[in-house]
Amino acid sequence: MEKLVSLAKRRGFIFPGSEIYGGLSGTWDYGPLGAELKFNFKQAWWDYMALRRENIYGINASILMNPKVWEASGHTSAFTDPLIECKKCHARIRADQDEEKKAHEEWHKSRKEEIEWTEPKTFNLLVEAKLGVVEGEKSTVYLRGEITQGVHVNFKNVLDSLHPKIPFGIAQIGKAFRNEITPGNFTYRLREFEQMELQYYTRPNEKESIDAFEMWKTERMRWYISLGMNKEKLRFREHAPDERAHYAKAAWDIEYETPFGWKEAEGIHHRGEWDLSRHTQFSKVDLSYFDEETKTRFIPWVIETSCGVERPLLYFLLDAYHEEGERVILKLHPKLAPYKVAIFPLLANKENLIAKAREVYKSLKEHWLVAWDDRGNIGKRYFSQDEIGTPWCVTIDFQTLEDDTVTVRDRDTMKQERVSTSELEIYFENKLN
Ligand code: GAP
Repeated sequence: MEKLVSLAKRRGFIFPGSEIYGGLSGTWDYGPLGAELKFNFKQAWWDYMALRRENIYGINASILMNPKVWEASGHTSAFTDPLIECKKCHARIRADQDEEKKAHEEWHKSRKEEIEWTEPKTFNLLVEAKLGVVEGEKSTVYLRGEITQGVHVNFKNVLDSLHPKIPFGIAQIGKAFRNEITPGNFTYRLREFEQMELQYYTRPNEKESIDAFEMWKTERMRWYISLGMNKEKLRFREHAPDERAHYAKAAWDIEYETPFGWKEAEGIHHRGEWDLSRHTQFSKVDLSYFDEETKTRFIPWVIETSCGVERPLLYFLLDAYHEEGERVILKLHPKLAPYKVAIFPLLANKENLIAKAREVYKSLKEHWLVAWDDRGNIGKRYFSQDEIGTPWCVTIDFQTLEDDTVTVRDRDTMKQERVSTSELEIYFENKLN
């Protein structure tokens, strides 16, 4: 983990937030390579969860919402008690719940784990902000604690504008904020982070909702594996009834084995009718659905897949980090890698080589983020690209000037092959699809 944190800083992936002012706990800034990686990660999720599917619609809701939303969703009441936090697994329980505390300690004991509690703190997970221009007349709003509610409050808007047929889903990616007591483990527990969620609406029917729940569990696990994550380090874990969030009828996590233990990457939750019925009750707007097929009206049930951005991305980085002899390699899936290709003119002081290399660079840059490196020897340039996960390096040498071919070197196998410059775009396109 320390090596990764240092690499991330040194190579422009992730910097401590507000670093020149001493930082701000629970915030990290993504540098040029990190921003690209994050963008690719979100794109991969959006492609897989929304673009390729017929019955999934995307939205982008506001971070600031009417405070009543959080009363309806249960967030204001569920998080205002004095809490203690287990320093081992970060579970929080109300300080006055002796039974629960004991059960939690027993559970850790059964796993031969020592635990300690933090001091009780009156704690609200929601981050408050003040809105308005006149001092004294400002109103308190919350920065959303989950992106979920932006979807449910727009349920009727999506119904009325696109007329989806149940079952269907609404996907969203966006920022969420939480007053975490103990942020830490690099980008694992943050106070500002992004989420990528699908809210999938089904008929209020056990079979249909459980089938959807199982289908999304499978799909979500498949997504991690499709992006190259080591299967052995992934598992499902079912939440115990007392561990579930206030809205969840059933909850499973996808976990990854980090250097600090098995940790949640995302949650798949059966939210039942909780959200739509509560918003119907609090807003007095009818959020039921009329099913043409069965000629019945009902409040749909919700199956949610809720994935973070920074946290699972940290797992992808940990998974990709390899040392082979002197070489440090980030074996990122090409879809995620910030630079897809690096272009090397063999020598920096030969004008004809540089001109040809610029030509190749420009043509590939029309499609992908491409790196340019003309410093030092080719071996060092390979090392430098391996460390940031660039899947392919292209060297323009004297043979290129004669027969218009270049050397393409693969990051993981280190194999090299000659490819004609006229075929390079197709060559990489095939590899990236
Ligand atoms: N809408 C349901 C929901 O928000 P959650 O399990 O609280 O569920 C879902 O959060 C995902 O969001 C987590 O699995 C994690 O990836 C990410 N996440 C939650 N809190 C986080 C935090 N403090 N820092 C970084 N990521 C976080």
